[in-house]
This record gives sequence, C-alpha cells and structure tokens, in this order.
Amino acid sequence: MNVTEAVKTKLDSREFSDRPVGPEIKRAVLEAARLTQSGVNSQHWRFVLVQNPKSLATLAADSTSGSWVAGANFAVVVCTDPSKGFHVLDAGRVVQDMELTAWDHGVTSRIYTGIKQPEMKRDFGIPESLNATVVVGFGYPKRKILGRKDRKPLSEVAFLERFGNPLGGLSG
Ligand SMILES: Cc1cc2nc3c(=O)[nH]c(=O)nc-3n(C[C@H](O)[C@H](O)[C@H](O)COP(=O)(O)O)c2cc1C
Repeated sequence: MNVTEAVKTKLDSREFSDRPVGPEIKRAVLEAARLTQSGVNSQHWRFVLVQNPKSLATLAADSTSGSWVAGANFAVVVCTDPSKGFHVLDAGRVVQDMELTAWDHGVTSRIYTGIKQPEMKRDFGIPESLNATVVVGFGYPKRKILGRKDRKPLSEVAFLERFGNPLGGLSG
C-alpha cells in the first residue's frame, strides 16, 4: 500500500478481531515512532508497548475516553515532555506514522487522549517529568472496513493564497 492509499483508506476502529498481531509488526510500529521527526530533533518522546490483556484492561481503567482499548491486541502509550511547547504536535506526528505503518500491514487503530495522569504514571511507571499524552490501540479489524470517510469537502477547509479564497484557480 502506498502512503496516499493508506491515508485514503484508514479509518479509526474501536473494535478489533482476536487475531494476534505478530511481533514483527509491533516492532515496525515502534520503529516508525522512533524514526518520526520531532521539534529540534529533541526526541523527547518515550513509548510503552502494552500487550498483556490485564495491562490493556488497566489502560482502559486509567482512561476517561478509551475503554475500548481493553479489546485491542496491543497499545502504545506515547509519553512526551510537557516542557516543550510543541510536545503535543510531536505526539501527533508519532501517532500518525505508527498508525499508517500498522495499516500498511492491515492493522487498524484508534487513539484516545482522555487519560488519568496520576493513575497512568503509577500503573505504568511513567516518570513525573513526562505526560502520558496519547494512547493508540491496535489490532486487526473485527470486520472488513468498508466505510466512507465522513469528511468536509476540500472547498470548505482549504483556500488559495488567502483565507476564504476558493481553490478554483489552482492549476497544475
Ligand atoms: C486528537 C484526537 C483525539 C481523539 N480522542 C479520542 C478519544 O479520546 N476517544 C476515542 O474513542 N477516539 C478519539 N479520537 C478518534 C476520533 O474520534 C476519530 O479519529 C474520528 O472520529 C474520525 O474517525 P474515522 O477516521 O473512522 O472517520 C481522537 C482523534 C484525534 C485525532
């Protein structure tokens, strides 16, 4: 799958099949995270891969908006340094690279940001200096993903030269 195709077809899933995801795919996902750009190349992020079903249930309990992660095959907790002004942007880039890499292997995913920080730090040994900024749950899709993307048209979200100008004059 090329990148354009991956972006076009990737949808977020809350439900995952029981089919196990192999260690080589998990490693590829972490490798994608490692290779991602970060502000001033500070690489302040750290990643905790969670695959034990009990630990996935703990992740779910430590979340306010990601209870579905209990049914994921594995998850990655993205920890970032909140003293960096761009740390959430860095987390987002890492997430997208991991998700597209997984999707290239047919593994779908979803993220959540509703995280109970004290509980996550206690349960997963995350240092005080870092935030558990986002969690990504991964797994093979439970059913074939046929959905259409529910997105606004390009004309509503993108402009030419000046905010509000239609793209009409965009030429090759
Ligand atoms: C910044 C961000 C935060 C999100 N937080 C949550 C969340 O807390 N819980 C959740 O279930 N989904 C969360 N999502 C998933 C979005 O709801 C999902 O990407 C959106 O509905 C589009 O899904 P689709 O690609 O399947 O159309 C989040 C997505 C983004 C980009």
